[in-house]
Amino acid sequence: MATKTKFKLKNKFKLIIVLIVLIIGLIYGGVRYKNYQKYRTTLEYKILSKGYDLETYKLIEEKLSKENLDYILEEDKYDYLKKIIGEKFYIDKYLHKYLDFYSKNDKKSFKDIVSLVNVSATRPWYQDPIITDTSKNELVLVNKFYKLPDDYTPSSIKTFSKTYAYGEVKAEETCYKAFIEMANAAKKDDITLILTSGYRTKESQKSVYDDFKNKKGIEYADEFAAREGHSEHETGLALDILTYNAYTNTFKETKAYSWLQAHASEYGFIERYKEGLEYMTGYAPESWHYRYVGKDVAKAIETLDITYDEYYAFYIDNHE
Ligand code: DAL
Ligand code: ZN
Repeated sequence: MATKTKFKLKNKFKLIIVLIVLIIGLIYGGVRYKNYQKYRTTLEYKILSKGYDLETYKLIEEKLSKENLDYILEEDKYDYLKKIIGEKFYIDKYLHKYLDFYSKNDKKSFKDIVSLVNVSATRPWYQDPIITDTSKNELVLVNKFYKLPDDYTPSSIKTFSKTYAYGEVKAEETCYKAFIEMANAAKKDDITLILTSGYRTKESQKSVYDDFKNKKGIEYADEFAAREGHSEHETGLALDILTYNAYTNTFKETKAYSWLQAHASEYGFIERYKEGLEYMTGYAPESWHYRYVGKDVAKAIETLDITYDEYYAFYIDNHE
């Protein structure tokens, strides 16, 4: 009798255990199912189920606006999306332009796709130029896509003494002071920096350009001179710097050029049109043409090793 009761109790106990396990299983399964249903509504699920990987999802979450996100969710998977939005200088408002430009230029690097779109160099030079924001002062952008307003004249123009310049050379006041400081420092290192050109009026810029055009044709002129309204010289923030016994074609071999390479940014100047970047800046290299942007920006550009056009697009225009 006692054995029978013991047996019954044992079975009851087993049943209770089975029931508990079953209930726990059901609860666990229910929670998992609920969690899965919830996960299906998340962005991560939606992105991954389009075939993108986790890294792309993270970039999308970090960099895309709601509008662009909706677009990506509607479209089929772009195999190269990660490459574009993973670029350091990706600007979200240009996503459609990057995708479009890449679809027609798939031999270019993604770095170039992003940079060329950022600086507007995907369209013909001088086409529909943007009137530049002159309130940016020494950070104003002037190039083949950004034009100065027709009635623009810089506010404070100073003329260099003959110690610093060959002929009459002028510059905007902050640029003027920075150059004098730089030229005096160079002198202590036995380097003479001589200015050959600085501020130009619209008319004088036109005559510089026309001169090239009349002698060598439009194509050549466009490589070496800006059309009126499009020259940094018209802001008073650009200086052409040479040294004794050097012309523009030999300046790069001089000690003065090496000195500028090492020190120009300390005084707020950058070499504006570097070799190999013609497709970005729109100009043949000009080792003598320096642009004043202030010390902080000049140093940042040096560290980043990018053109001023790229810097402006990403760090100034993009952050407004
Ligand atoms: N030579 C430079 C590009 C200018 O004319 O402004
Ligand atoms: Zn110049």
